[in-house]
Amino acid sequence: MDDSPLQVLSVPTAPYPDQRPGTSGLRKKVYVFQSNRDYLQNFVQSVLSSIDLRDRQGSTIVVGGDGRYFNRVAIEVIVQMAAANGVGRLLIGQNGIMSTPAVSCMIRKMKAIGGIILTASHNPGGPNGDFGIKFNISNGGPAPEAITDKIFQLSRTIEEYAICPDLRVDLATLGKQTFDLENKFRPFTVEIVDPVESYANMLRNIFDFAALKEMLSGHNHIRIRLDAMHGVMGPYLRRILCEELGCPANSLINCVPLEDFGGQHPDPNLTYAAELVQSMQSGQYNFGAAFDGDGDRNMILGKHGFFVNPSDSVAVIAANIFCIPYFQHTGVRGFARSMPTSAALDNVAKATKIQLYETPTGWKFFGKLMDAGKLSLCGEESFGTGSDHIREKDGLWAVLAWLSILATRQQSVEEIMTEHWQTYGRNFFTRFDYEEVDILAAVEMMEDLEIMMSDKAFTGQIFSEGEKMYKVERADNFEYSDPVDGSISRHQGLRIVFSDGSRIIFRLSGTGSSGATIRLYVDSYENDAGKIFQDPQVMLAPLVNLALKMSMLQERTGRSAPTVIT
Ligand code: G6P
Ligand code: ZN
Repeated sequence: MDDSPLQVLSVPTAPYPDQRPGTSGLRKKVYVFQSNRDYLQNFVQSVLSSIDLRDRQGSTIVVGGDGRYFNRVAIEVIVQMAAANGVGRLLIGQNGIMSTPAVSCMIRKMKAIGGIILTASHNPGGPNGDFGIKFNISNGGPAPEAITDKIFQLSRTIEEYAICPDLRVDLATLGKQTFDLENKFRPFTVEIVDPVESYANMLRNIFDFAALKEMLSGHNHIRIRLDAMHGVMGPYLRRILCEELGCPANSLINCVPLEDFGGQHPDPNLTYAAELVQSMQSGQYNFGAAFDGDGDRNMILGKHGFFVNPSDSVAVIAANIFCIPYFQHTGVRGFARSMPTSAALDNVAKATKIQLYETPTGWKFFGKLMDAGKLSLCGEESFGTGSDHIREKDGLWAVLAWLSILATRQQSVEEIMTEHWQTYGRNFFTRFDYEEVDILAAVEMMEDLEIMMSDKAFTGQIFSEGEKMYKVERADNFEYSDPVDGSISRHQGLRIVFSDGSRIIFRLSGTGSSGATIRLYVDSYENDAGKIFQDPQVMLAPLVNLALKMSMLQERTGRSAPTVIT
């Protein structure tokens, strides 16, 4: 091997206009990255340039991805560019694989300046699927808007990027690789790390593994079924659930990470995790869960496929929080949920006199509250649940939280959920997703709705739907003022609140890669013991109909039914 220092090149380039990071990083169809010259390089340079040179020089950055198509190619380029941009060390998951929560954990543990995560989360993968890049900051969480805005601005004016084109990294072998560069920043180190180890150590300190092991593989063990949906979670589940907690191998399905997730959406909901739902219906398993591509989302099911709505899931964990040893040590500082998430968590917060925060959609808002010591547990309707142990939502953490509750209470998922409703009342919730609709139609619908809502006469207006009457109490485009730094985030979703507390919310998804996804969220509270067991779809039908009429969603989009119902 030639051991002369590696060349550092400055390559001229021209900006692309469309590199604005969305809710969770830059997401595009794979072909956008593949067929536009230097598309990836431009964005990576913008990310690296957003870090002040003094901070960047000699710093450590964590890199990992969910293993989707283009993951490896992207990591190879990131290594070449990080070296050329003065980064001192990269910590990379073996074969470029690391779940989003594990990256967050690693950033914090190694005091890295940040992390680059290659994932489009729950979006499909493969040559015709999506790819994404997300930048996390030193707290381990997604970069806040000020930083993503800066990245976007840099991407619009970029003229050149720095790269070491001859640097070849071995992503398969654990351990250190050192490279000499011809510039002043040498040497540059890459450390290939086990993607599971640090994360597993962290979980061991949060939960009572002995109690979980007893429940999962002891005398009277329960049977569980976990679906990795061919995403990144396979290796984590094998190591933690099977090797460590003793679950039999057939507890796991779809645990081989595939570049195209087997052609499916790696999205843990009732539509896309159909295989799990079906196998749960047989009644053989007491507990089921599915994860998304990068392992931060989760769906919880009980026996016979009993569905736990994510808005309820975080409320149940809140109400049983001391079943998790971690919180016995840290205490509980606060709860939070995103605005479209149902208010089930609010009821627990009220009863326990713990502060509740309502934030816009997106995990980054929670991170700030956690850094300020204001928040311990949070969740979103979009199948995200987590705590201040890291700064990302954490699918496996949520599963172990539920299993800890099961172990302590010695009850089934359904019993725990129904007792919860009996105690706190039930927030019926549903979300309708209309995926890949025409962008113009979606934007116009939102604009017209907002005009209608801002009419003074709208507040106080009464709508009748079947036998029900709904009086508008408040209507706005949700705005959030951050209690930590006072920053204001506007236009976070159209919200119509009725006098009985029911809500209709319209939002455009920030995580799609083509077309627009309209999300319609509807929720309504009920504490009449005779009514809490109704089917949410029946219970919420009048509000859904009202929402469809108000927005003329079906006429405008040409869709007679949503793509996904939660
Ligand atoms: C990502 C973020 C979540 C957020 C979700 C919203 O998963 O990490 O915090 O809730 O996106 O997605 P949407 O498609 O509704 O913008
Ligand atoms: Zn995800």
